[in-house]
Amino acid sequence: MKKTIRLGLIGCGGIVQKTHARAYLALSETETIKVSALADVVPENLQVVGDQFDVPEQNRYTDYREMLAKADIDAVVIATPHSLHAEQVIESASAGVAIVSEKPMATSLEEANSIMEAVNHNNVPYTIVHNYLYTAGMQSAIALLPEIGETYFGRSTGMGLRSTDFNANHPNPAFAWRASKAKGGGCISDTSYHEIYSVCTLVQSPVRYVEARVHTMVLDIDVDDFAMLLCEHENGAVTTVSGAWSVPADDFGWCEVHAENGSLRVKHRYNVREALRRFTRAEGWKQLELPDLDEEGLKDSSGHAGYFTATFNALAEGKALPISAEKAYHNLAIIDAARRATVERRAIEI
Ligand SMILES: NC(=O)c1ccc[n+]([C@@H]2O[C@H](COP(=O)([O-])OP(=O)(O)OC[C@H]3O[C@@H](n4cnc5c(N)ncnc54)[C@H](O)[C@@H]3O)[C@@H](O)[C@H]2O)c1
Repeated sequence: MKKTIRLGLIGCGGIVQKTHARAYLALSETETIKVSALADVVPENLQVVGDQFDVPEQNRYTDYREMLAKADIDAVVIATPHSLHAEQVIESASAGVAIVSEKPMATSLEEANSIMEAVNHNNVPYTIVHNYLYTAGMQSAIALLPEIGETYFGRSTGMGLRSTDFNANHPNPAFAWRASKAKGGGCISDTSYHEIYSVCTLVQSPVRYVEARVHTMVLDIDVDDFAMLLCEHENGAVTTVSGAWSVPADDFGWCEVHAENGSLRVKHRYNVREALRRFTRAEGWKQLELPDLDEEGLKDSSGHAGYFTATFNALAEGKALPISAEKAYHNLAIIDAARRATVERRAIEI
């Protein structure tokens, strides 16, 4: 019989309340997980999430280290500002619990190296949330990859417009830290992160070289609001990724792959029936049915429920977690290379 995973949440803010909680409720019903303890520096957030999951008062902590020391938990989910991920993952690894961390792994490759060392040293399962691989369109696209053959071109875009008062002093803390370099914010690591792993998954080959311009174009912030990447993969394929908080594009969140037997275009950021189209020379572009997308699936707008289900089922069964630490490290290495390419005005080898 599978053992229920006792979960401790580090960070109970926006994404937990708006999205993770729905997945946790469904997984609690099947006794896959139980939300047993919480840590957040904001008492109101502890209360909202604690009450939702009936977490006893004594298991609600304002210091995550105290939770790691005292609570009976098997795993943590970390959903805090990016600059805290490395420290919190390393402490959790020392406490011997499995770790699911929101993206990105860390704010730098130096931090990521320390994480890998701690996770390997303590031999704990560790994974990063790559949720948009679990929208129905993306799952169907991934299932079609063996049919499309050798890939040669991919492109992905996630461009939008933030309000002009989006800055490090914004009253909404979720905006403020995203607009701050010290907190690990910025468009490429917060937003384009998803477009990078999504298009790389479709191209099915690691990135070897990155050329890029990652700039602050419009907003009054000390982090980037614009990212344009040109990547060359090990199989010779080329991809472009464009992301922005400063461009009023109206086609946010899609990616494409082109290959010897045709092309796929996915709205990876949306769990909608019209998310996937396929091109073949015989038939041109055709919309594909998504038979697995039911009413519940339509509610899982960001793919988090699919991601957490796959991850916690694998954890409960002692299997390899679907998103490996190496995959997440590679995504961060692409972002790091894009920043270096901007400064050095040359392609960076990964
Ligand atoms: N995968 C996705 O689609 C997706 C979407 C949104 C956010 N995220 C990620 O989730 C994470 C959190 O983002 P958010 O939008 O929920 O931000 P948020 O600001 O709404 O929430 C962050 C929470 O962390 C808490 N916190 C701050 N310092 C802490 C500490 N020292 N210990 C414990 N808790 C602390 C805050 O009080 C807050 O409740 C980020 O990594 C972000 O990139 C992922």
